[in-house]
Amino acid sequence: MPLKLAVRERDAAALDVPLLVVALPKPAELPAELRALDDQLGGALGRTIGRRDFRGDRDETLHLSGGAKGPARVLLVGMGKATDAPLAIKRAAAIAARQAARLGAGEIGFTSPGMDERGVEQAAVGLLAGSWEYRDLKTPVPADERREPLQSAVILVPDEKAARGALAAGEAIGEGQSLARRLAMMPGNLCTPDFLEQTAREIASRHKLDVTVLGRADMEKRKMGSFLSVAQGTPQEPKLVALEYRGGRKGDKPVVLVGKGLCFDTGGISIKPAQGMEHMKFDMCGAAGVLGAMEAIARLQVEMNVVGIIGATTNMPSGTAIKPGDVVQAASGTFIEIINTDAEGRLVLADLLHFAKDYDPAAVIDAATLTGACVVALGNTASGIFGSDEALVAEVLAAGKRAGEPGWQLPLWDDYKELIRSDTGDIKNSGGRSAGSITAALFLKEFTGEYPWVHMDIAGTAYSETDLVALPKGPTGVPVGTFVEFVRRRAG
Ligand code: BES
Ligand code: MN
Ligand code: ZN
Repeated sequence: MPLKLAVRERDAAALDVPLLVVALPKPAELPAELRALDDQLGGALGRTIGRRDFRGDRDETLHLSGGAKGPARVLLVGMGKATDAPLAIKRAAAIAARQAARLGAGEIGFTSPGMDERGVEQAAVGLLAGSWEYRDLKTPVPADERREPLQSAVILVPDEKAARGALAAGEAIGEGQSLARRLAMMPGNLCTPDFLEQTAREIASRHKLDVTVLGRADMEKRKMGSFLSVAQGTPQEPKLVALEYRGGRKGDKPVVLVGKGLCFDTGGISIKPAQGMEHMKFDMCGAAGVLGAMEAIARLQVEMNVVGIIGATTNMPSGTAIKPGDVVQAASGTFIEIINTDAEGRLVLADLLHFAKDYDPAAVIDAATLTGACVVALGNTASGIFGSDEALVAEVLAAGKRAGEPGWQLPLWDDYKELIRSDTGDIKNSGGRSAGSITAALFLKEFTGEYPWVHMDIAGTAYSETDLVALPKGPTGVPVGTFVEFVRRRAG
């Protein structure tokens, strides 16, 4: 059951909930709207802040017992010296939702002084993110033994009517992110290319989108030898799925979102080490991000035409698998020499980026868990951003910033191209260890054609192997927020 959200014009003191969360920036002060609550608590809030027991540092939390009336408990959450208040609210809200689940508070109130509409939106996004869990594959704990999950949250606002639209927008984004995280978390034996296709079809039928699906035979007809070379090692049917959302004017060029959908990446014949290989179920986070974004964009009814394309398959070693040294021909005609079968994502994307030309795109943005090198360079904090159209790069960076999914631009200079020149064919699929993320992006660029294009390497940001405070380890929902913010801003 997803978290139920509401906005209410109500004094915090009058809120009958097991937990009230108050998010405060640094330096913490008692906000005027909490005076009544403070009185009800015999001045405990004011004293706690006055004594500097709680300072409002980022991620700081302090738990107080409530009074006889009103909220049973109060949780203060620090926002730090908020340079971007809505994003600080989102983070505090996610921490609050996680804390509520630990306490077994089924219902919470959430308030932050001076929260504007964007703050309300981001509070909703944060509450949904923090309450998200993947329990589908766990035997349910009997109700009398488990702590109550967080079921509903009320966001306190000065103007309920004005906040309703912001709440709906936050819910749309949150639902898109939850969808992406669920797909990402699903193991490779369940989240297959067929399953991704089925999920895409469900999104399409819910929102009346057009769907195109290509299987192995269709890809053969289109001479997608690059994508097919990855898929030749698995008996699973590979799937290229395109969803078309028409929120703009007829004939307006669409924005095309492209996602890498490796339902599992063993590395193929160039097999990966066993240690940590299970994380390669997350190698479809680009595709999950595209599907999550399409869900959110359709819910938001953004006034723009948007196409989402995913390429789904599984990279396996087998008797039929591609081998190092093999040369394959992409749909674009380019001959690719396979140096390392573990550099498979770019092989799938090559044919997707060529396919995207059919839509005459205004812009193409792809997202892919493409290189371990990107994780080495930027960790879990920033996605690697590449593109030759500087205006589009700036637009994507700004969208990521608004969404709290920062990106960092890396160069796409021709100087690096030498590293992927092939002796046998036109281009090699691996340039070795140095500048690994850049050579991967340069490889993609070969297949992009005329349209403005940006590549996001989300290998480090789409999931985390450690707890991130606001989110647990596992999938983060990146790049849904970036895609949605990009499309929303472009639509005006
Ligand atoms: N899916 C991986 C990249 C990856 C690594 C994502 C770690 C998330 C965490 C990709 O398919 C891959 O294996 N890339 C290789 C490329 C190399 C063989 C040129 C890599 O990064 O090692
Ligand atoms: Mn790989
Ligand atoms: Zn991969």
